[in-house]
Amino acid sequence: MGKISVGIVMGSTSDWDVMKHAAQQLKDFGVSYDARALSAHRSPDLLIEWMAECEKNGAQCFIAGAGGAAHLAGVVASKTALPVLAVPIPSKHLGGLDSLLSMVQMPKGIPVATFAIGDAGSANAGLFAVATLALADKTLAEKLAAFRRKQTEAVKNAKLPD
Ligand code: RP5
Repeated sequence: MGKISVGIVMGSTSDWDVMKHAAQQLKDFGVSYDARALSAHRSPDLLIEWMAECEKNGAQCFIAGAGGAAHLAGVVASKTALPVLAVPIPSKHLGGLDSLLSMVQMPKGIPVATFAIGDAGSANAGLFAVATLALADKTLAEKLAAFRRKQTEAVKNAKLPD
């Protein structure tokens, strides 16, 4: 692993379809990251080893996506003092409500910042990581401001169909 700013982890390769949106935002802003599928319950030791490697290589925050009994973000947060952003993955039987509640209901003391279920939450976690890094990076802050201006322009120029 080379130098990175963000570690993205998901509980299964099946989560990538959602988690790729966080990765895409980071890519768009030129933020370096490492993305891995590592499970809190299937491969806890590998998860902890990868986290340590991320921190050694400069990671400033983690984005964790998981579905179902989604304890991944909480486990990540238990092993780091860096900010942890949690993305609830839509689940097969409960539509991701289980994932959301598992993440958002962290007991006091070990916070995870939980985003919306699915693609929007994943993209927003990426954008939030960018905003966090931008606090100490003027160039990134300018890029983020330009991105926000572009969105505003799109709303201004939006036309409804006749
Ligand atoms: C969780 O179980 C993963 O985060 C994933 O969302 C869900 C299903 O995993 P697979 O059965 O597709 O590997 O651990």
